[in-house]
Parts: sequence; C-alpha cells; structure tokens
Amino acid sequence: MAIIKKFRIKSFKNVNSVIEFENVSLSYGGRLILDNINFKINEGQIFGMLGPNGVGKSTIFNLITGLVKPKSGKIKIQSEEVTQYPIYLRTKKFKVGYVPQYGGYFNDLTLYENLKAISEIVIPNKNLRDERINFLISKFELDNLKDIKAKFLSGGQKKKLVIALSLLSDPKVLLLDECFAALDVLTIKMLQETIVKLQQENKITICICDHQARDLLACVDMAMILSNGKVVAQDSPSNLVKDINAKNAYFGESFKFN
Ligand SMILES: Nc1ncnc2c1ncn2[C@@H]1O[C@H](COP(=O)(O)OP(=O)(O)O)[C@@H](O)[C@H]1O
Ligand SMILES: [Mg+2]
Repeated sequence: MAIIKKFRIKSFKNVNSVIEFENVSLSYGGRLILDNINFKINEGQIFGMLGPNGVGKSTIFNLITGLVKPKSGKIKIQSEEVTQYPIYLRTKKFKVGYVPQYGGYFNDLTLYENLKAISEIVIPNKNLRDERINFLISKFELDNLKDIKAKFLSGGQKKKLVIALSLLSDPKVLLLDECFAALDVLTIKMLQETIVKLQQENKITICICDHQARDLLACVDMAMILSNGKVVAQDSPSNLVKDINAKNAYFGESFKFN
C-alpha cells in the first residue's frame, strides 16, 4: 500500500507535549501489564502505538481517559498532571476524544439520530447542535446514509460514524483504538486519509494503535513499539523499521515497508 503521508512532517517546531507518560506501571491482579512506560505525544502529531494483542495498548488509552489508574508514575495532558483526575474532567478540560475499537454508537438509532443524541449531551447550545451535525455529515460525506440504522451500516461507515460522534465535542486530542481492524483495503485507505485530514485541517493531535504495522505506519509521524510491558523502540516509521530492538521484538527480519 502506498504511504498516505507522503509529506510527512519532519520536525515539530516549538513542540508542546499533549500527552506524556512518566514511569507509568500498571498491574491487573498482580500481573504486571505496563512496566515503567515513558513516552510523549507532541501537539499536532499523529502518534502510533504498535504491539501484539494483549500487550496493553487499550490499557494505555484507558489510562489517558482515566478509566483506570496506574500503580505508579505520572500521566500528563498538556503538561498538567492528571493522574488523579476523573474521566469527565480530562475529557472536558483537555478536550480528549475517544473512538473505541468496538461499538460506540446506538445500534437501533439512525446515523442522524446517533449524532443528534450525542450532540444533546456534549453541545449545550441548542442552536449550535444542528450546525455541528451538518458540518460533520458533509465532512464525512454521510448525507445519503443519514436515515439508515447504525446496525445496518458497513464496517467502514460505522467507523466514520463513531469518529464523527467523537468530533461533536470538537476534541483537541483524538484516541483511536484499532480503527483499521476488520476493514477492507479501500476502507482502510479512506480512514487513513480521514485521519491525516483531521490532523492537517482541524489541527487535532491523534493517537492510534494497532496490532499490525503496515496500515498504521502509513499514516503516522511517530510510533512506538510495545513488547512485554515495555516501550522497546520509538521513532519515525522509516527509522523504526530499521531499529534493531523493534525488529527483534516485533517486526522480525523480513518486514518491508513501502
Ligand atoms: N480490566 C481488566 N482486568 C484484568 N486484566 C485486564 C483488564 N483489561 C485488560 N486486561 C489484561 O491486560 C492485558 C492488556 O490488555 P489490552 O490493553 O486490552 O491489550 P491490547 O489492547 O494491546 O490488545 C491483557 O493481558 C488483558 O487480558
Ligand atoms: Mg486493544
């Protein structure tokens, strides 16, 4: 597959960190899942997390949103320590949007009704709701799907809907959990382009994770590899695939990118 980010942003001047993990560890039932994790996502970046199933990618999202708390370490959003902040505060104060791997919409509501229902929760000003919904419907070219129940949409259309739902509240940071999983090649390409547009046109900082490398590396600026609870490598896609630790822990010898 062609690289979506042909003009990958090489440097981020005067970078502000948007998400930062400092020595974060987490255990479930005595089992160490994340072991002293450190990483930083800079403003405006598309950042990728790669690692096998069960390594802790969704757990990292849960730590960012506040669904779970670390055993030790600090989590910062926009340089402010949020480790003890509840979910609603992180979402509201720092405008963090989240697109879960599964679901995230009401099956029996139409696409439009889904947008309307969530807009009523996240947009207090009634007059602005329709404006925002119409903007998103047009942005994602969902006009002809408005009256279809969400459960009858295709996988790619559902993903677009959930991303549109997450954008109702105008997030500054968007977390996408395995958003390419179980989608066909063309739909993945469409989503990759959507993600890059969100970065470039809407200036949203994006963090996506996947257990497979190719689709993710095609659209990120930076990525990290997780293995056995640790960050084993962190770099731009072109450097990462050459990294010896990344090869040993994740890519293997035969992986080729491009
Ligand atoms: N609430 C939980 N209670 C106990 N174990 C959990 C819980 N959530 C996740 N785990 C375990 O933590 C590990 C990491 O899970 P997860 O973050 O979902 O991995 P990934 O998203 O990388 O596939 C897995 O071994 C999983 O079984
Ligand atoms: Mg997961």
